[in-house]
Amino acid sequence: MILVVGGTGTVGRLVLESIAAADFETRALVRDLDKARALKLATVQFVQGDLADAASIAPALEGIEKIVLISSFSQEMARLQTNLVEAAARASGRPRIVKLSGAGAAPDGPTTMARWHGAIEDSGLPWTFLRPVYFMQNLLMMSGGIRKSGAFALPAAGAAVAQIDARDVAAVIVRVVVEAGHEGKAYDLTGPDAITWVEVAEILSAVADRPIRYDPVTPEEFKRRLESAGMPAWLVDALNEMFAQFRAGAGMRTTDHVRRITNQPPRSFAVFARDHAHAFRAD
Ligand SMILES: NC(=O)c1ccc[n+]([C@@H]2O[C@H](COP(=O)([O-])OP(=O)(O)OC[C@H]3O[C@@H](n4cnc5c(N)ncnc54)[C@H](OP(=O)(O)O)[C@@H]3O)[C@@H](O)[C@H]2O)c1
Repeated sequence: MILVVGGTGTVGRLVLESIAAADFETRALVRDLDKARALKLATVQFVQGDLADAASIAPALEGIEKIVLISSFSQEMARLQTNLVEAAARASGRPRIVKLSGAGAAPDGPTTMARWHGAIEDSGLPWTFLRPVYFMQNLLMMSGGIRKSGAFALPAAGAAVAQIDARDVAAVIVRVVVEAGHEGKAYDLTGPDAITWVEVAEILSAVADRPIRYDPVTPEEFKRRLESAGMPAWLVDALNEMFAQFRAGAGMRTTDHVRRITNQPPRSFAVFARDHAHAFRAD
């Protein structure tokens, strides 16, 4: 049986839908059973639990052979996911952990995100790590502002990043968890090509049928805007670290893991934009 943690989130929901449709025996550890029921996945066994509460994790692990481990990027992520990993290490059968990690994950990685993921990757259990670059879906967090103002601002300068569609991340997770042969492997996941945010704006303008502009801003201006919108300083700083990496060229590399593992090419940004065009049209 497969346990999915994070099944109510962006990637985890897609993983659950796909595993449930393929009729694999699946359990999902969720904080909120009402939110889980709204997913309308009758074949998934939902159990209430919280990664912050170690006692709530052990029952969810009974009879589990594989775990999909996802939780929000937060200051607590390493502690929360380590609670799950430690409980899994105590469980009978030593389940394999398929962890949604991040680019460059390592205890001495180049960013806070990479280091937090790297701390969890050191689990001692059988594992597979998936390390995607930036999700295309991140742009949806700015879609309200784009609808209103026709512009979005990032401290990316002219950086090109091989952004990946979260649907492809989920498709890889599903294959990797149900198939043999992925134990001990770490896959860097990317979209098909590195694109700049100028190109992103051009593609969005075409699908939304209105001009949409990318405003490159300094890291200081980005921080000022996000903090005045209520974002906590630690998160703004982590984002600024990531964009500094992108400006230095760290997001440009592409890999062929999505195609090799799913037998499908990764979705382009144009496909993502077409499928989400409604989110960017004027209010
Ligand atoms: N966005 C990117 O560009 C990007 C790139 C590479 C890697 N990543 C990594 O992807 C991960 C986030 O994936 P996502 O965007 O799919 O996540 P998400 O949409 O933020 O959803 C997070 C999921 O984790 C669950 N969760 C959070 N805290 C929990 C707790 N204490 N106990 C149990 N469940 C908990 C949430 O449940 P609730 O529904 O109850 O909140 C939700 O199901 C992060 O580790 C991030 O670093 C992201």
